[in-house]
Amino acid sequence: MSSLIISPSILSADFATLADECKRIVELGADWLHIDVMDGHFVPNLTIGAPVVQSLRKHSKAFFDCHLMVTNPQQWIKDFAKAGADMFTFHLEAIVDPQQLSSSQAHPAVVEAAQQVRAAGMKAGVALKPDTLAELLLPYLQQGLLDMVLVLTVQPGFGGQMFMAEAVQKCAVLRQQFPQLLIEVDGGITAETAVAAAEAGANVFVAGSAIFGAAEPAQVMQQMRQAYAA
Ligand code: DX5
Ligand code: ZN
Repeated sequence: MSSLIISPSILSADFATLADECKRIVELGADWLHIDVMDGHFVPNLTIGAPVVQSLRKHSKAFFDCHLMVTNPQQWIKDFAKAGADMFTFHLEAIVDPQQLSSSQAHPAVVEAAQQVRAAGMKAGVALKPDTLAELLLPYLQQGLLDMVLVLTVQPGFGGQMFMAEAVQKCAVLRQQFPQLLIEVDGGITAETAVAAAEAGANVFVAGSAIFGAAEPAQVMQQMRQAYAA
């Protein structure tokens, strides 16, 4: 079993002291930093863009795990690569209406977006909203076009929401066929809900409020590692 990657979501950090918060959380044991990018259109919230990522890059050598909850994510690939993003995860639903997709045939627009991300020098991830089927990603995974799948376990847009337990079943579907794949769960992950996510096959845990809101973030991350190892 590969080791767990913990990617605290800086959405729950103090944006006024972001560089210090990033440094602190990495020193306390975080593996990656999860950066939630929202455009007020794909989701009803506005957060961080490439200029903030670029500024943070000057203060941190951490792996920047960027989750783009935006319409037309292709528009930002070059800017994020230049800013120093390591993983660029776009939403499948932002490229094509899932109703138009099938589990047996790759859609050229999705293939192109994934290829553009890698050509820009980043790892390519695809995120799924809770209602989008995991099987729709099989054609791209079979072609080796993706480095990671992000399974949303809340509706995207805000931190601090309730974990949707049924969504983790998607991790099991993917894990069965792709033993080496990075499968990230995001939304409502705590030391407790991490157990179900780990059982289903997730190996990258995002947590915002559970880590940044804790009095002892190191302890929470430790508990998550124990849940994964169990
Ligand atoms: C939700 C974001 C998450 C969010 C998670 O749209 O994608 O990354 O920050 O926050 P918690 O862990 O508080 O649910
Ligand atoms: Zn996220």
